[in-house]
Amino acid sequence: MPKNIKHNPVEQAESILKHHKNLFGNLLYTEKTTSSVVKESETNYSEEWASATTLNDLNDKICNCQKCELGSTRKNFVFGSGNPKADVMFIGEAPGAEEDIQGLPFVGRAGQLLTKIIESINFKREEVFICNILKCRPPNNRDPLPNEMQTCEPYLQKQIEIINPKLILCLGRISGQTLLKSNETLTTLRQKVHTYRGISLMVTYHPAALLRNPHWKRPTWEDLKKFRALYDEMKNANK
Ligand code: URA
Repeated sequence: MPKNIKHNPVEQAESILKHHKNLFGNLLYTEKTTSSVVKESETNYSEEWASATTLNDLNDKICNCQKCELGSTRKNFVFGSGNPKADVMFIGEAPGAEEDIQGLPFVGRAGQLLTKIIESINFKREEVFICNILKCRPPNNRDPLPNEMQTCEPYLQKQIEIINPKLILCLGRISGQTLLKSNETLTTLRQKVHTYRGISLMVTYHPAALLRNPHWKRPTWEDLKKFRALYDEMKNANK
């Protein structure tokens, strides 16, 4: 008989839950009797960092995070950078090799392209805020695991709460799906203006994808023009 089979029902339940947590993080899927599936996010806002009221304070409180395994493989925690009072946030997926070395988001090749993208719609890099879903680099730039995103997302939610931007641009499918709690394709997510906690949000291609496939630059440009127009509309409405 395999050694890890538990006979005690409590041990059995613990083992199943541990396995589930490894796979899915703190996300619980509960079958309702109506057969619809309810997702319950177990965000622990009782932790000390949740009381932060400024980005510097939040960074100080979370920068030594060891909640997932990326804490032991990262060189630097990549909090994000830019204007703490930004109207506009750009949110990518996770730091890459160069970001891990410098402790700053989007400073590698994709980052250089992101700077051009930002400037193409008449923003300056310093006036927006740039960050990622994950604050630590996944080894070999593999895709973030569900439990890593689940663990890290509350930090991003807190950043958004403190900055309180007017508009968010998600860079790539993973960023869009994570914030919108959606399984839709990037093509579908790009088609509309979403609302995230009362903030307008759009999704476009990730700059790294544009480096791999320049054919996506044209549709990205269309998205960016809409994004800028939406921003101008909001600004004018608030005059
Ligand atoms: N890709 C991302 O999603 N984020 C970075 O910071 C760098 C590359």
